[in-house]
Parts: sequence; structure tokens; C-alpha cells
Amino acid sequence: MNESSKYSVLFVCLGNICRSPAAQAVMQAMVDDRGLTERFYIDSAGTGGYHIGDLPDKRMRVHARPRGYELTHRARRVQSSDYEDFDLIVGMDAANVSDLCRRAATIEQERKVVMMGDYIRQFPHYDYVPDPYYEGSEGFELVLDLLEDACDNLLDKIIKQNNISQ
Ligand code: 4NP
Repeated sequence: MNESSKYSVLFVCLGNICRSPAAQAVMQAMVDDRGLTERFYIDSAGTGGYHIGDLPDKRMRVHARPRGYELTHRARRVQSSDYEDFDLIVGMDAANVSDLCRRAATIEQERKVVMMGDYIRQFPHYDYVPDPYYEGSEGFELVLDLLEDACDNLLDKIIKQNNISQ
């Protein structure tokens, strides 16, 4: 944890307009629901730079809203300081994790990188969060289902491992 004693989590996908901003909003809502707003800092970024400054994809925003998530993040690219600034860096698929590990400057930084799929419990056929960009509505709903499942589990584990009191 950093000096401000907030535990910080960075969610990462390719474009930072679909999966990772949704993960950021889902995790922020869970943190808020548990009364832990002041104990966490949640952000997201992309390994690619195609959409820098953009709001999340309209389809992702439309599917997230009825579940209570307003996606207002502006896309940004992962930067080297993220590896120092964040306690945990969570990739959505194997390509994200491999890009993130390759860009890490030290073993300690690489150890911060984990795979979101490892926290999915209720969807045994998924060990990653699939890119919905070229999919229909079901793809976006699936992403939200997987993220809600994985974030709940991830948050439980972070709380336990860091003795964060609720
Ligand atoms: P994301 O989805 O990685 O979940 O944000 C994508 C968004 C845009 C592109 C690829 C994936 N793209 O190639 O523009």
C-alpha cells in the first residue's frame, strides 16, 4: 500500500473503452457498498493507445447503466509510473497480462500483475474476460457478468490479504 494507505488497483485491457473502465466502475461500486471508499483507489488504462481521451464505448455504457454503473472514465494508456503507483495491476486477458509483464521494469513490478480470469468463480468456461468490441449485446452482458463475479472475489481476497477492516 502507498503512503496514503489506500490500496490501489489498476484494471487494464487493450482499448480502455470497454472491459477495464467497466471493471473500474464495478469494483468502485463494490468498494463503496462495503463502506471502503476511503481505503481504495481504483483506476483503469489500456495497453493500446487508439482511444486516448475517449469515454467508454457507448454500448458498454448502455449495458452498464441498468446495473447501476455510470462509466465516466477517459481512456488512457498504461505508463511506467503505474507500476510504482499501483499495488495491483489486473489484466483482462492473456495478451494484456503478457504485455503488462513485458513492460514491467523489475521483478517486483511484474509481481503486481495478475489475471482477472483467475478470480472468476461462477463461469467455469471462462478463464479470461473476452473482448466484446466486435460482439453483439450478449458480449457486453457477458463482460459485466464476469466482472461482477471476479471483482467480488478479488475484493474479498485483497481485504483478507491486506487486513483491511470493513
Ligand atoms: P477493450 O475493447 O480492450 O475492452 O477496451 C477494445 C476496444 C477497442 C479496440 C479493441 C478492444 N480497438 O481495437 O479499437
